[in-house]
Amino acid sequence: MTGALATSTREKTAARLLNSSAKNSYDPEIDIDWEAPLVDGMYFLPEQRISLYGTPMWDRMTPEQRIELSRQEVASIASAGIWFEMILMQMLLRDTYSVDPTRKHPQWALTEIGDECRHSVMFARLIERIGVPAYPAPRLTHELGRVIRRSGSGRATTRRSWSRKRSWTVSSARA
Ligand SMILES: [Fe+2]
Repeated sequence: MTGALATSTREKTAARLLNSSAKNSYDPEIDIDWEAPLVDGMYFLPEQRISLYGTPMWDRMTPEQRIELSRQEVASIASAGIWFEMILMQMLLRDTYSVDPTRKHPQWALTEIGDECRHSVMFARLIERIGVPAYPAPRLTHELGRVIRRSGSGRATTRRSWSRKRSWTVSSARA
């Protein structure tokens, strides 16, 4: 694929994703009723998705213990979600930092960062609402996240090209 064709394809994809984001975005502060009461006796996850489901230990657990496990596990999953989202947001922002902001693909990246930011707030509100402390990543995993967010990127060669020429026009070639 030639550079111009690749640019065109990437811009078209970014424009399509921007449209999709506009239709599917929501705000957890507005669209979720965080004051709604929790329903007694309900699992916080589908039963089959709970880690111990179907095991001998599960069979020995009381309904209350099973529900409590589901509450803890949903908080753990949401905590991991926030961790991933934060890494993704930083990678997207870093990748967009040197790109012509009038292009569609950096605009989509910025839109995606906004969406991921709202997702993270939603996960955080969920953890808070169900009354479970957040589960941080283990120390080593947390530190590995720092490495990933600093080193992960798209096409490294195009980043170097932009740095050499210091021009928005080169960033269009990386599109
Ligand atoms: Fe997300």
